[in-house]
Amino acid sequence: MKKLIEALKSSSCTVAMTGAGISTLCGIPDFRGPQGLYKQPDAERIFDIDWFDRDPSIYYRGTRELVYGMRKFKPGPVHLALKHLEDLGILDGIITQNIDMLHQKAGSSNVWEVHGSGLLHHCRRCGSRKTFDEICAMLDAGTEVPRCKCGGAYKPDITFFGEALPEQAFAASQELAIRAKTLLVLGTSLTVYPAAGLPRLTLQAGGKVFIVNGQPTALDDLAAARYDDLQTFADAVLAM
Ligand code: APR
Repeated sequence: MKKLIEALKSSSCTVAMTGAGISTLCGIPDFRGPQGLYKQPDAERIFDIDWFDRDPSIYYRGTRELVYGMRKFKPGPVHLALKHLEDLGILDGIITQNIDMLHQKAGSSNVWEVHGSGLLHHCRRCGSRKTFDEICAMLDAGTEVPRCKCGGAYKPDITFFGEALPEQAFAASQELAIRAKTLLVLGTSLTVYPAAGLPRLTLQAGGKVFIVNGQPTALDDLAAARYDDLQTFADAVLAM
């Protein structure tokens, strides 16, 4: 990782873009990796807005652990390594596709969640709001699909397939990607747009991209360097 570590030491603006791969080190399955969630039949319906409106129990059953079990998950080595880079004054921001809120739990600041999170839920019919903890309490009390008084189902503020990305988070992420002289792309297959297009903004603005991912990505040939293992990355950064 010598080339990556050298770049971190000399970069005037460094940004990290993270995906589900970094949370597999915390025991949370990713989507498309060898043991990914999408290996299960019909899994792609879980985060689909049309299926949610048709039958919200598909989402709530499919995410009982992944989203509503998340209180037991702790930040992993990569989350801690990025917090360490911030403490060293090296990291300027994090763009994450993850909905597990683990970067915030690790103490990172300037985190932009381009696919939202379950921190808030809104009623699909009247728009009334519930917090993550209120929804967890409803689920813990045995409710299969948390519903509003008006009868509408509560949906998390997670970007489902078929929905637009949160505007402010995506605009801030585009600005960060353009400003980045060094972009670390960590644990993402770079398959879901428009988020997957962000590293190209860095390249077009003359920045360098470093990829750490167990499987190949479409951007590998344009990366300044690519590595396979996230634990090795975290160890190297935590030793800085
Ligand atoms: N070391 C290195 N790479 C790893 C490790 C590891 N320990 N664990 C997993 N990976 C890699 C996998 O090989 C995979 O290529 O992390 C990548 C995770 O890719 P995905 O599962 O596709 O996750 P992500 O890219 O974040 O998905 C993007 O898709 O389902 C939607 O909205 C959801 O935000 C998500 C988006």
